Amino acid sequence: MTAAIVDVQDLSVIFGDFYAVRDVTFRVAPGEIFGFLGANGAGKTTTIRVLCGLLPGSRGRVVIDGEEFVRGRENIIKQKVGYMSQRFTLYDGLSVKENFDFAASLRGLTRDEYLASRERLLEFIGFDKNLNTVVKNLPGGIKQEVALCVALLHNPKIVFLDEPTAGVAPVARDRFWKLIKDLAAAGKTVFVTTHYMDEAENCNRIALMRAGELIAVDSPANLKRRTFGDGLYNFTPRRSGVVLRMGGDMEICEPYGLHWHVKFRNGVDAAAAVKKYRNDFEIEKIPPSLEDVFIRLVEGQNR
Ligand SMILES: Nc1ncnc2c1ncn2[C@@H]1O[C@H](COP(=O)(O)OP(=O)(O)O)[C@@H](O)[C@H]1O
Ligand SMILES: [Mg+2]
Repeated sequence: MTAAIVDVQDLSVIFGDFYAVRDVTFRVAPGEIFGFLGANGAGKTTTIRVLCGLLPGSRGRVVIDGEEFVRGRENIIKQKVGYMSQRFTLYDGLSVKENFDFAASLRGLTRDEYLASRERLLEFIGFDKNLNTVVKNLPGGIKQEVALCVALLHNPKIVFLDEPTAGVAPVARDRFWKLIKDLAAAGKTVFVTTHYMDEAENCNRIALMRAGELIAVDSPANLKRRTFGDGLYNFTPRRSGVVLRMGGDMEICEPYGLHWHVKFRNGVDAAAAVKKYRNDFEIEKIPPSLEDVFIRLVEGQNR
């Protein structure tokens, strides 16, 4: 990896005696779209808050764009990052303009810097409403786009987006992801969490978190290859009443509606195995989805 822009080593965040984040290590390259996935409570938001300089880690080392996070120097980190929080993005009762004004004053931008940046960002998202529109009257997708602009107002190199598309309609989610890709193409590093597996496919790399720990960090393609090496097979019964039972040659046998998804054990000759089941099932090799991967990885850890 070229010099990492985010470098996290053995980070732990402990509340009382509870490890919200435990020994987490990863690096993110400049211009990368880095996805953070995991169930509620996995520790994603806590990690992001540390990386944004909002919360000190209990142990470990965090370096953001060459600056180590040390107490008292949080402002240097805050300057380098933009943050769109999961809970709070914009003041609903204020207008779009007032939200921008407020962010600009917090960031200490000069009036010229502010206005130039705002204009550039509103053009970037294709904002076609009145700036005096009160935020609560904006459609959900547009509100999130405006919140993204507010997070980018001081032109940070890295932007942390915590579930930016949660509850947003599918078309608006696609629009938002187009913006994320444009940002990365322009050299920004985008760190994003999502619960939508289809969105995660757009990330260059994904970190999967579970109960405070990182259980995998890799590209979507590599995660699939690692998890389903010799491939995943879709079994469709040829007659009604035919049921597939987990065979000794199978490692995975998951029901999917009227089908089953099967992974044969390592070392099993897949072609021969397919032949064995062919009388009762139509069998085709299928590309695993990230959903398949995550069910597998998270369940695998529970054994
Ligand atoms: N300030 C805090 N004090 C105590 N526990 C916390 C605090 N912040 C988060 N937690 C706990 O840490 C765990 C991880 O939370 P969080 O980082 O928000 O997870 P995620 O974003 O993956 O849903 C949760 O169990 C949460 O309740
Ligand atoms: Mg969260």
